[in-house]
Amino acid sequence: MENIAVQPEQDFLYEQVADDIATMIEAGSFRFGDRIPSVRELSRKRGVSITTVMQAYRSLEDKGLIEARPQSGYYVRLRKPPGLPAPDPVPGSTLNPAEISVEKLAIQIFRENLIPGMVHFGAATPDPDLLPTSRLNRILATLSRKPDYRHSLCGIIDGCEELRVQVAQRSFQYGCRLAPEDILITSGCIEAVSLGLRATCKPGDTVAIESPTYFNLLQMLEAQGLRALEIPTHPETGVSLDALRFAIEHQSVRACLFVTNFNNPLGSLIPDERKEEMVAFLAAHDVPLIEDDINGELYFSGERSNVAKAYDKKGLVLLCSSYSKDISPSYRVGWIAPGRYKDEIERLKLVSNIAPSLLPQLAIAEFLAGGGYDHHLRRIRKAYAQKTACMADSILRHFPPGTCVSSPQGGFVLWVQMAESVDALEMYSRALKLGITLVPGHVFSTSNQYRNYIRLNTAQWSDKTAWAVQRLGVLAAQLENKRQV
Ligand SMILES: Cc1ncc(COP(=O)(O)O)c(C=O)c1O
Repeated sequence: MENIAVQPEQDFLYEQVADDIATMIEAGSFRFGDRIPSVRELSRKRGVSITTVMQAYRSLEDKGLIEARPQSGYYVRLRKPPGLPAPDPVPGSTLNPAEISVEKLAIQIFRENLIPGMVHFGAATPDPDLLPTSRLNRILATLSRKPDYRHSLCGIIDGCEELRVQVAQRSFQYGCRLAPEDILITSGCIEAVSLGLRATCKPGDTVAIESPTYFNLLQMLEAQGLRALEIPTHPETGVSLDALRFAIEHQSVRACLFVTNFNNPLGSLIPDERKEEMVAFLAAHDVPLIEDDINGELYFSGERSNVAKAYDKKGLVLLCSSYSKDISPSYRVGWIAPGRYKDEIERLKLVSNIAPSLLPQLAIAEFLAGGGYDHHLRRIRKAYAQKTACMADSILRHFPPGTCVSSPQGGFVLWVQMAESVDALEMYSRALKLGITLVPGHVFSTSNQYRNYIRLNTAQWSDKTAWAVQRLGVLAAQLENKRQV
């Protein structure tokens, strides 16, 4: 701090102090989440009164640059990146159901995302250090020593009751009142969604999805012979209800498949009142909604948003989720609350895998029942908010001017829009050679509209991986220039 000039004769001395701190934040000397000098320390170093520093800090707070944390001091506040432009309003006639063909590319990307020793900004897997692994290991060890009264398949088609009770108990937090018998345990969220599609659609049917949408969901539609109708999706408020209304009124849409809270890759969140409006509209047309809420718990601030299922009066919403993002991706424990489709889902489940493994279900049930889940969630939400903000900030610093980054309010992925001339697939291949994975925009749509976009996993952001964002920025600049010459 020594090199900050002292100008005590200034009338608005506090403004000078505030300007100096703001400049240092701008220059990146203080990053998001960093503690800035205490009031006393700065007053001593600058030779100004405590009141002057307090006034300076208040003005920085008013500008949204810093925040006071009780009994801790002042910290640089999360800066909301400018965000992505809203999609163009799409004339209804351009909404065409499409055959899907992302499967090969998506599988290749999946494989490459598993290569050890790389910086994995590709697959949207959680930070292993933010999973309660040792606690789960202890629970598993205890469970495995218990008498083998549960080693038969009896009564577990719907999943173990202990876990269904836990899911039901928490459902009021997102606006539902589920009973244990409303829920079936699945092998991850992906099986839940897959069962939902199979129960509501048959090959050749059209399913409305967000654009962009998580590539594995597109793959699933492809595998089931379904057609995708991409609905324009706002980067912050989610799927366009006007476009959805138009589509349903003019096309034969068999079902909708939306990630209502923190869509992957946009991080968009459909506000609760719009979810209610959407559910009422779908109910009026008898169109089921398969709702993927895998990221719902991972909000950065405020409160848990409701799910669309909270407004479901006709049993038409099939709510799907899992513990893959917050407890363990490898346990493969998810669930579905399928409303009026429960019998059909039970039948499909029985003929596909009878039931998921019991031990991981019991371990997660015990983890949830034992308390501490809310504390765990608070910890990881804060960590992912911080990682996401830092990585967005770094992208804006190191990528060419004009790059736009999403501004998610939850989850742990960023969606990056680069210059039109950048081919994300080429960037993906070149990044792999540098030891960095990412997901090119090509696989998030059936059309080629996101070829200059990439998705990055912010869970893997740390001081050790920061270099990789710089390298990607250099790559983006090279690819931008390559096409321009
Ligand atoms: C939106 C969405 N749905 C489903 C999944 C897969 O969930 P699971 O691993 O629980 O099957 C993911 C994983 O990234 C996802 O982002």
